[in-house]
Amino acid sequence: MTTSRIQGFRNLSVEERRSVVTQQTGVDAAALAAFDDGGFGADAANHLSENVIGTFSLPIGIAANHTVNGRDVLVPMVTEEASVIAAASNGARMARTLGGFHTSSTGPIMQAQIQVVDVVDPHAARLRVLEARHELIELAEAQDPKLAEVGGGVRDLTVRVVDFEDEAYVVAHLVVDVRDAMGANAVNTMAEAVADRVAELAGGRVVLRILTNKADLRLARARAVLDAETLGGDQVVDDMVHAYKLAAGDPYRAATHNKGIMNGISAVVLATGNDTRAVEAGAHSHAVSAEGRYTSLSTFEKDADGNIVATLELPMPVGLVGGATKTHPGARAAVALTGATSAAELAELITAVGLAQNIAALRVLASEGVQRGHMSLHAKNIAIAVGAGPGEIGQVVERLIAEKAFRHDRAEAVLADLRSGK
Ligand code: MEV
Repeated sequence: MTTSRIQGFRNLSVEERRSVVTQQTGVDAAALAAFDDGGFGADAANHLSENVIGTFSLPIGIAANHTVNGRDVLVPMVTEEASVIAAASNGARMARTLGGFHTSSTGPIMQAQIQVVDVVDPHAARLRVLEARHELIELAEAQDPKLAEVGGGVRDLTVRVVDFEDEAYVVAHLVVDVRDAMGANAVNTMAEAVADRVAELAGGRVVLRILTNKADLRLARARAVLDAETLGGDQVVDDMVHAYKLAAGDPYRAATHNKGIMNGISAVVLATGNDTRAVEAGAHSHAVSAEGRYTSLSTFEKDADGNIVATLELPMPVGLVGGATKTHPGARAAVALTGATSAAELAELITAVGLAQNIAALRVLASEGVQRGHMSLHAKNIAIAVGAGPGEIGQVVERLIAEKAFRHDRAEAVLADLRSGK
């Protein structure tokens, strides 16, 4: 990878963009051909899901301008929403001026829960289970000897008593280093294997044995310093911080603020064949403050030089082995484009893209508002939807914007006028 800063990338044709991507990343054109038919045939799809009747394609695009820990990356994103990839590229460009994104992460630790009900002495039961910690860890590890071979394995067993209404459940957690896997299968198998013994020790009956998507021991982090001048000056800086503070203090704004972050995150998670719902569940469960209030996942502060420092930290349970990441040719090509060699590296990149998206959203909201850019992309979608061809789209878009009429009926009329030479 040489540079992710590619002048005029958006003005190229699809073929030209592919050839730039090939040149920059070294991923060959044959691998990118996986994107020709949506990346996936009906036969292959039939093995991935149930009752399959075909496949369903979405655009895959490339977010430019990302620098992560000094390495330039072209980021594959799958999204149905216009302006998301443009915004990620924009946010990354603003971060790039002062060095791009700096990232870090915890180990790839996932947890599974084993719920025991009908326990007469839950607090004593908790200690009985903990007294058998070594035995239970050994039993769990025996389920996945390969994981230990690659440096993973069970790191701990913890036990909580969860009270709700008139129940007190004994809930054991297996804490597992899953290395480059997303880890759901590994920890679920382990939880099922130890469940009966946990119940026996606790003196109760097992109900649930399943991972928790609140993956708060598997966090990824990204940080960027944003040059005040690049952002548009002190007023924009102050207003971006105001925008952040509203998200930090108000769940109504936090939901939208975090949705913007997830625009970037889910698009890369999907492109790389990972589980968008697992990442989303983890993110939103993490967006709850110590006081129990839903809040912003990111922070924006003004530093001593008057620049903004933006940070993002959240669970990022993504893998490079197993599932669609390995079996879907498009997902494989997308992972190759990122150049990520470990699940942790991919998790950190995805977090940087979430922050880029968030930076771009706050920058535009704190200045001109989203509608101008958004509506021109929206107008383009409408023009295409009513059948405008490549030579007509631009003119239809111009007319819709001039009239501020972003409706299909108006686009149809404009197109008809154009074709009849009016
Ligand atoms: C739109 O998909 C996302 C935004 O609403 C995010 C935000 O408001 O921060 C622009």
